[in-house]
Amino acid sequence: MKHFISVKDIPNLQYALDVAFDVKTNRFAYQHLGKNKTMILIFFNSSLRTRLSTQKAAMNLGMNTMVLNVNEDGWQLESELGVVMDGEKPEHLLEAIPVIGQYCDVIGVRSFARFQSKDDDYSEKIISQFIQYAGVPVVSMEGATRHPLQSYADLVTIEEFKTKQRPKVVLTWAPHPKALPQAVANSFVEWMRETAYDLVVTHPEGYELAPEFMGDVKVEYNQKKAFEGADFIYAKNWASYTSYGQILSKDFGWTVNEEKMALTNDAKFMHCLPVRRNVVVTDGVIDSKNSIVIQQAANREVTAQAVLKMILEEV
Ligand code: CP
Repeated sequence: MKHFISVKDIPNLQYALDVAFDVKTNRFAYQHLGKNKTMILIFFNSSLRTRLSTQKAAMNLGMNTMVLNVNEDGWQLESELGVVMDGEKPEHLLEAIPVIGQYCDVIGVRSFARFQSKDDDYSEKIISQFIQYAGVPVVSMEGATRHPLQSYADLVTIEEFKTKQRPKVVLTWAPHPKALPQAVANSFVEWMRETAYDLVVTHPEGYELAPEFMGDVKVEYNQKKAFEGADFIYAKNWASYTSYGQILSKDFGWTVNEEKMALTNDAKFMHCLPVRRNVVVTDGVIDSKNSIVIQQAANREVTAQAVLKMILEEV
């Protein structure tokens, strides 16, 4: 594997699962792969899980790691092409990226949607420039439209907890005070479409995800109906795609609560975290025995390590 940006970069889903379960049980068996190799993790946005799990995964493989928080530790970086750089940003990505590439063997990049331009966000303007100019493999640590490391961990978690071959998996929109990107939802749908699961997406009208991610996935606008018989409930907020970046609803009627979970088939509750308690999900649900959010987060280390292993085997 050269780069890891979406599910399309892995050879196939079963192979990805086999690698993940192998590294989960043999965490330190592949340290020779990372010996004398360095990963640089570049953050344009905040992180807890992605930063720590990816760094830990790289260390498990014997790699050295360096972290750069752009805007805090380094120069502010210009990403627009052809601009007169007489503003606040003293360095362009066109120099910064190939320079970073000189110091490492793998680059991880986190760069969220900026909600200034749907075209810029959906062309993955920042990560695309890293792929073009870095000269080394690039791992998305959440781009503008996808969060593949998260989705891979979500898949592994569902595989661990499913009790039937074809579980009903429901992705539900939930309220949030801030406008959040569609990346986690897009990516989750993209990965789930590669499985045999029965996937249903539920959200208020106006929150339809981009057609290229949804394909023919079923949308159920009635959240309670969507929850009926579900084996997994995955909650996530996202801002509107059609009214790009806007918050159309903050309706707490969409919060995941005990009453709605009672409609399910004793479903497991999932969320990528961080989560706003009693906005996205009630304390009663996230603190219940059916909540698997910590196990889900633990699998971030596993799948980051699986991705790095697949990349290092080809470097
Ligand atoms: N789920 C996730 O990516 O968490 P962080 O934003 O803390 O990295």
